[in-house]
Amino acid sequence: MKLDERLALCALFVRRGKKTVDVGTDHAYLPIWLVKQGITDSSIASDVRVGPLENAEKNIAENGLSDRIHTILSDGLEKISPDDADDIVIAGMGAELMIKIIESAPWLKNNEKRLILQPMTRAEELREYLCTAGFCIMEEKACISCKKSYSVMLCCYDGIIRECTDIYRYAGDLSNDKSSEALRYIYVVNEKLKKKIKGYEKGTEEYEKTAALIDRFGEIILKGGEKDDNSKGDI
Ligand SMILES: C[S@@+](CC[C@H](N)C(=O)[O-])C[C@H]1O[C@@H](n2cnc3c(N)ncnc32)[C@H](O)[C@@H]1O
Repeated sequence: MKLDERLALCALFVRRGKKTVDVGTDHAYLPIWLVKQGITDSSIASDVRVGPLENAEKNIAENGLSDRIHTILSDGLEKISPDDADDIVIAGMGAELMIKIIESAPWLKNNEKRLILQPMTRAEELREYLCTAGFCIMEEKACISCKKSYSVMLCCYDGIIRECTDIYRYAGDLSNDKSSEALRYIYVVNEKLKKKIKGYEKGTEEYEKTAALIDRFGEIILKGGEKDDNSKGDI
């Protein structure tokens, strides 16, 4: 079984030997892969809906892992015991829902827990939330899967409230990452900002802020492309 690049990047951040939970598991590909690779002995696969959980159970059984991957019907982390969760993956959802799930589980404010987050939309709102809620984005990487660009964040609570600059909000540490995947991510973000700015009136604060971001991301893309010839093809 092979994971696509997006789930493979989530898996990369999971610590060996830790108890993992895949929130909103749907097909359970990630926990199945983690157990099969020996990264974790057992795992929890949870979902809020019966259909996806049945889908997960079917795939888990087909892989002979029903005794090692436990499925739980749960809204976010509501039914998950903190004792059963070291590394918590929340992937394939919008940022708003992810924030709601994190906020509803105050036990995540523990520096021994890790959050592995892969937002499908509004990643900038997730980064801002994490900065202001005392979560540190320890590492962030980008990938391209089915021609789409994604970012995955490895986070941990340390209680420090961080300033979230506009650049950080939109690109996190990917703005310092010269990989072709990070440059592609920034390119996609910048294209979205170029569309967004068309809705703003020139001279307004929103317009000026967005224009400055577009310029800065344009420079990053240009410099990255100059340094790394491989990235040019991607952009
Ligand atoms: C697009 S799928 C993502 C599946 C997988 N995590 C991935 O990234 O490939 C989103 C899943 O999240 C589940 N979901 C939505 N809201 C949820 C919530 N509040 N708690 C748990 N799961 C939820 C949905 O039922 C669905 O199965």
